[in-house]
Amino acid sequence: MKILMVGAGSMSESLVKGWIDSGISPQSITMTNRADRSRLVTLADQYGVQTTTDEQIEQYDVVVLAMQPEGVLGYVSQKTWTNQLVISVAAHITPLEIETVTNCGAVSAMPNTPVAFRTGMTGLWFGEQLSESHRQQTIELFERVGETVETNHTTMPYLMAAAGCSPAFFYEIVGAMTPVLTGAGFDEQAARRIIAQAMKGSAELLLHEDRPTAALIEDVAAPGGPTDRGVHVLREHHISQAMYAALMESAREES
Ligand SMILES: NC(=O)c1ccc[n+]([C@@H]2O[C@H](COP(=O)([O-])OP(=O)(O)OC[C@H]3O[C@@H](n4cnc5c(N)ncnc54)[C@H](OP(=O)(O)O)[C@@H]3O)[C@@H](O)[C@H]2O)c1
Repeated sequence: MKILMVGAGSMSESLVKGWIDSGISPQSITMTNRADRSRLVTLADQYGVQTTTDEQIEQYDVVVLAMQPEGVLGYVSQKTWTNQLVISVAAHITPLEIETVTNCGAVSAMPNTPVAFRTGMTGLWFGEQLSESHRQQTIELFERVGETVETNHTTMPYLMAAAGCSPAFFYEIVGAMTPVLTGAGFDEQAARRIIAQAMKGSAELLLHEDRPTAALIEDVAAPGGPTDRGVHVLREHHISQAMYAALMESAREES
C-alpha cells in the first residue's frame, strides 16, 4: 500500500508518526506540500519517509488530504484520479464534495494529534461511492493509531469539537494549573508530568467505568473536603457553561 500525504503540517506528521510506529514502512509513505521544502527535508530525515514536489496520483493507493480546508477542492480538481482511496482530514470538507470531483470513493476523517502516540480519536464519515474494501482499509488505518467512530453530516462537527479541538482545551486547562505547582516549588517539567498523569489516569478510569460522571466526582470529593471545595470553585466560575460554549463554538461552521 502506497500512501501520499498532501500537506506536511502538524496533523500530517502526527498521522505519519503513528502509522510508522504501528508498523507501516516509512518507505511506503510519501509526503508533499506546496511551498516549505525545508520542512519536507526535515520530515524525511526524522521519519525516513519519501518526499516529492511533483506527485503523480496514479502511483498511490491512498491519498490523504492534510492541507488547510480551503486548499482541498482546488487541489483535487487539478489532479487525475484512478480509483484511489481519498481521505480528507480537513475540517468541514464533505466526502460528497471530493467524490463529485474525483469520481473516487472518499472519506472525511477527523483525527486528533494524539494519533502520533496511537491514542487518537478519529471520526469517519464515509462517502456514498466508497467500496467495502476501501471502507475496511480506512478503519484499519485509523485503528492503528487509536479509536474510531462513524460520523455523518450531523454528528461530524460535534465530533470535531469534542475530539479534534479538545486537546487544545485540555492544554489550556493544564496551562492554568501549572503556575500553582511551579509556585509551590516544582519545576515546569515536574508540574506538567503531575497534571498530565492525573489526566491520563482519569481518562483511563472513565474508559473503564459506566457510572455517570457525577458518581465519579462523588468517589473523589468527600463533602466539605478539599476536592469538594475545589469542585465548588469550578462551579462558581461556571466551568460547565464555559466548556459547553467552547464545544458549540468549535462545532459551528464559519459563515
Ligand atoms: N491540527 C489538528 O489538530 C487537526 C485536527 C483535525 C483535523 N485537522 C485538519 O488537518 C488539516 C491540516 O491541519 P494542520 O494543523 O496540520 O495545518 P498546518 O500545520 O498549517 O499544515 C498544513 C500543511 O498543508 C500544506 N499545504 C497547504 N496547501 C497545500 C496544497 N494546496 N498542496 C499541498 N500542500 C499544501 C502546508 O504547507 P505549504 O504551505 O508549504 O504548502 C502545510 O504543510 C486542516 O485541514 C485541519 O482542518 C487538523
